Amino acid sequence: MSGPVRSWFLPGPEDTDRLARAVAGPLLELSRERPLCVALEGELGSGKTSWVRAMLQGLGYTGRVVSPTYTLLEPYSVGDFTVLHLDLYRLSDPGELEFLGLQDMVCPGTVICAEWPGRGRGVLPEPDLELAFSYQGEGRRVAMSAFTAAGADWLEVVAKQASMLHLPALD
Ligand SMILES: Nc1ncnc2c1ncn2[C@@H]1O[C@H](COP(=O)(O)OP(=O)(O)OP(=O)(O)O)[C@@H](O)[C@H]1O
Ligand SMILES: [Mg+2]
Repeated sequence: MSGPVRSWFLPGPEDTDRLARAVAGPLLELSRERPLCVALEGELGSGKTSWVRAMLQGLGYTGRVVSPTYTLLEPYSVGDFTVLHLDLYRLSDPGELEFLGLQDMVCPGTVICAEWPGRGRGVLPEPDLELAFSYQGEGRRVAMSAFTAAGADWLEVVAKQASMLHLPALD
């Protein structure tokens, strides 16, 4: 399943933060039945880590959120839930993900947020959602696609929140 791509303009870093924070809770709730995987696409510096950091802050996480550039994986416990933040830029082979023990960590209540997901193809679970960030003027565009029913439900939440935050929808 793949619904329409929905895109918004994020004029500045605070807009990325506000939207990510607003939609973090519902994403976790949707992972209760089945773990979720969010593929974060976009070139270097486009906002993938910023999104995950703001999401975690929105969930009440108060510790430091560092980019998993070298560790590949940073796990976060938030209440009953786990967020697994991956950055696969430096992964040379998807098999390395098996060494990390990713499969054993994924269970209901887990949300995987993976930067550079293409490099883990075959080992990383199929994404429920894709968030593709790109540069647009001084700001960013985020294009979101859902591939599962849970992903589509979350996209509805995002659309409502984006509208409440007065973020311009793009074609
Ligand atoms: N909507 C926005 N408009 C302008 N700048 C933004 C916006 N959102 C985030 N930024 C800025 O863009 C940069 C994004 O860096 P970030 O580390 O999140 O990128 P990344 O996509 O994770 O890159 P990498 O692939 O290197 O991990 C930060 O400096 C952040 O403040
Ligand atoms: Mg990053």
